[in-house]
Amino acid sequence: MSQNKSDKIESMMDEKRLFAPPAAPSGDRRRPHVNGMDEYLAHRDRADKDPEGFWGDRARQLLDWFTPWDKVMDADMNEPRIEWFKGATLNVAYNCLDRHLTNGRRNKAAIIWQGEPEDDVRVLTYQMLYDEVCRFASVLQGLGVQKGDRVALYMPMIPELAVAMLACARIGAVHSIVFAGFSAVSLQNRIQDCEAKVVVTADAVLRAGRSIPLKVNVDEALKDCPSVERVVVVDRAHSNCAMREGRDMWWHEAMADRTLDTSCPCAKMDSEDMLFILYTSGSTGKPKGVVHTTGGYLAYAAHTTQWVFDLHDDDVYWCTADIGWITGHSYIVYGPLALGGTTLMFEGVPSWPGPDRFWHIVEKFRVNIFYTAPTVIRALMREGAHWTQKHDLSSLRILGSVGEPINPEAWMWYHEHIGHSRLPIVDTWWQTETGGIMISALPYATTLKPGSATMPLPGIDAAVVKPDGTPCGPNEGGHLVVRKPWPGMLRGVFGSPERYKSTYFERFPGMYESGDGARTDEDGYTWVMGRLDDVINVSGHRMGTAEVESALVSHPAVAEAAVVGMPHAIKGEAIYAYVTLSAGTEETEELRAALRTWVRKEIGPIATPEVIQFAEGLPKTRSGKIMRRILRKIASGAGSDFGDTSTLADPGVVQDLIEGRVQLT
Ligand code: WT7
Repeated sequence: MSQNKSDKIESMMDEKRLFAPPAAPSGDRRRPHVNGMDEYLAHRDRADKDPEGFWGDRARQLLDWFTPWDKVMDADMNEPRIEWFKGATLNVAYNCLDRHLTNGRRNKAAIIWQGEPEDDVRVLTYQMLYDEVCRFASVLQGLGVQKGDRVALYMPMIPELAVAMLACARIGAVHSIVFAGFSAVSLQNRIQDCEAKVVVTADAVLRAGRSIPLKVNVDEALKDCPSVERVVVVDRAHSNCAMREGRDMWWHEAMADRTLDTSCPCAKMDSEDMLFILYTSGSTGKPKGVVHTTGGYLAYAAHTTQWVFDLHDDDVYWCTADIGWITGHSYIVYGPLALGGTTLMFEGVPSWPGPDRFWHIVEKFRVNIFYTAPTVIRALMREGAHWTQKHDLSSLRILGSVGEPINPEAWMWYHEHIGHSRLPIVDTWWQTETGGIMISALPYATTLKPGSATMPLPGIDAAVVKPDGTPCGPNEGGHLVVRKPWPGMLRGVFGSPERYKSTYFERFPGMYESGDGARTDEDGYTWVMGRLDDVINVSGHRMGTAEVESALVSHPAVAEAAVVGMPHAIKGEAIYAYVTLSAGTEETEELRAALRTWVRKEIGPIATPEVIQFAEGLPKTRSGKIMRRILRKIASGAGSDFGDTSTLADPGVVQDLIEGRVQLT
């Protein structure tokens, strides 16, 4: 384990502070969905004894089904074969929109959109969102998109993104959202892998007062994407992007077509029909297309949104993630809208025009529930608490955190300055693959410990196990696994059943392997320690070391590269790359800069190495395996204590690497 990780664990080992849940808000209408520990324990007990009864009840309470299921769950994690609500039919857009038109929410704000410019605000009621979605669903149908076809969405945080997602769901098309910060190459890889038929994008992205071209990346990517027939472009920034005749069309023109049939009925989807694919990095080179299906995913997103955030009808709920990540899928769009909630969507960044942008938005819209990431908290913490005092944050009721372990210092700052020492913080552990939150406090039930995600939700059999699959004792570190299926779990890796099985279900037969390390303390609280595989968590986003390495070695000047994570005050972890240059190439600052630019272009800004160290050689065993353990230690600043180095082919490289260590400026 790296120095970074062991330090973090030690500081968390000392964490003994307890924070009791607040008293429940008064009034029937505001009664917490899970009110107090007794209710919590009753749910947990029921879910343990009768999982199918528990999940069946939740799925019935939360969603409208066209036809009922034959069986709640039919699953075997050994094979793996996972089916939830088999035989039932439903439609995700129907549940997120249509039913709210007749249950009293028709004129309620579904989406409050705060654009990057302060004055750019749009509010879409459920009726308005429904109309837009039906229109765009018809547009897609007009382009020949059919049930099961893939549609790639490469868009900024604008309402059209949510509209496009729901339009796909309405007609049974599968969306694959590619975060707009990814490069043309990354977009191309993803489109090629899922063979998308249509791409929806925008001319540009507005960010920190600037306009960054986006459509050019699509043009670049599509040079080698034969599956793509049409491209729909939202004119977000009026930047005059190039349009290719016969292939590209403007969103506003397509939507203005008055001959469109806007009744657009919902497709009747089988519970296990695919809803979306979302690519995520793993320990091997190529990102995996994580597959989520219809019934189980939506039920789980709605269930967790309701319980973890205690979402009520008059709440304004804000998750600050980008919809390009799973957090945005489940907790900006699907969970809140399925519940008929009001979800706030923000196009900009936390630091612009000032480090109080978030707090300004909280005040402006009287946000009640606020869900963000530790990296954001740390960055804003550094700017000083006075920024938080400029705004009235008294509307807030619940705070959330996601993406990486939240260090106790950031937790306390969040608690004191945003929560005014009275609000619960739900630290939510989950993954792209889990579809929704797995380990978290419930705001009006759980006593909190800063830095711990507390306990698995009722019905979630998460455990920490030894390499042989048997449970670890209290405070013993091990692998975080899930031993029972849950409705939101992934159903596959697109196009690769072998990878699906080998990544998640092989090492611990009958269990789901998360790839994270954790321990459970004497009170049964889970402390997640971070990835055990070759994945780096940069600002709460997963980057595979192999992915960055392969980008580096594709540069002609690079002979070999090894990438590890290093501790970083704001990002949690940053990318540290050791690069061996090809013979005769000079080690210059220009080349260092060029390599950084190269990686940005190959993958995207989030993959940019923080540090590039030129190395004559890498620490390898005699069989040629790179010893990353040593590289991680050097990157974290260690000068000694490298453990057993006797298996190294050339132990001398370690000293050379220490001497060549690049300090962060
Ligand atoms: C990895 C999943 C799904 C949320 C966004 C990231 C880490 C996430 C926590 C947390 C400790 C966390 C894990 C996990 N992680 N939330 N509350 N405490 N670690 O999704 O990109 O699929 O990454 O993020 O390491 O495996 P993702």
